[in-house]
Amino acid sequence: MIAPSILSANFANLQQDIEMLNQSQADWIHVDVMDGVFVPNISFGFPVLKAVNAIATKPLDVHLMIVEPDKYLQQFADYGAAIITVHYEACPHLHSTIQKIKALGCKAGIALNPHTPVTLLDDLLEDLDMVLIMSVNPGFGGQVFIPNTYKKIQQLKEMAKDRNPNLLIEIDGGVNAQNTQALFAAGANVLVAGNAVFNNENPEKFISWMKNSNA
Ligand code: DX5
Ligand code: ZN
Repeated sequence: MIAPSILSANFANLQQDIEMLNQSQADWIHVDVMDGVFVPNISFGFPVLKAVNAIATKPLDVHLMIVEPDKYLQQFADYGAAIITVHYEACPHLHSTIQKIKALGCKAGIALNPHTPVTLLDDLLEDLDMVLIMSVNPGFGGQVFIPNTYKKIQQLKEMAKDRNPNLLIEIDGGVNAQNTQALFAAGANVLVAGNAVFNNENPEKFISWMKNSNA
């Protein structure tokens, strides 16, 4: 699956970009929420999400790079999140947070920073719909992909194969034309791409190319 990140969209004309994604072969629309505390950047909040939700015809894949996400889960669900992903590093009571997301009728994901090993998910593996492996340090689009990500995909695949075979592995950060095929081949199920999509001269065509790279 392909989940373009609107962090790299044109915020002065978001409608045009969302309509392009609606028409494209994108599976989900990836929404990066940053609070300036968990990550050194602020992106956007509920008013923007609400506007996106009013136009988007694809599921919203909401990636929360915020502290204390529990406080806002209900609101994210109300504003159309289909998948809510919280950061391992931001949640002291992850099991509870995951159950709350599911109780709201959303799919639940955990994101791991580049320094956080996948083995830390051992006691939560069966509870998860998705694991988002950060392939850059969260906070900004357009960064360079960290190759250690491949090892993490392999380890997670191995951990999940008997215990949660439907677990989705999403890769986020620095995904581009050079690593798309290798990431799918390594076992990634969902690729997020911001810069590579929106800075392409033909974003819709590039999304199709990515989608059809999953041999
Ligand atoms: C980074 C965000 C990503 C970002 C990816 O903190 O989580 O979703 O938008 O952007 P690119 O694809 O440009 O690395
Ligand atoms: Zn993201």
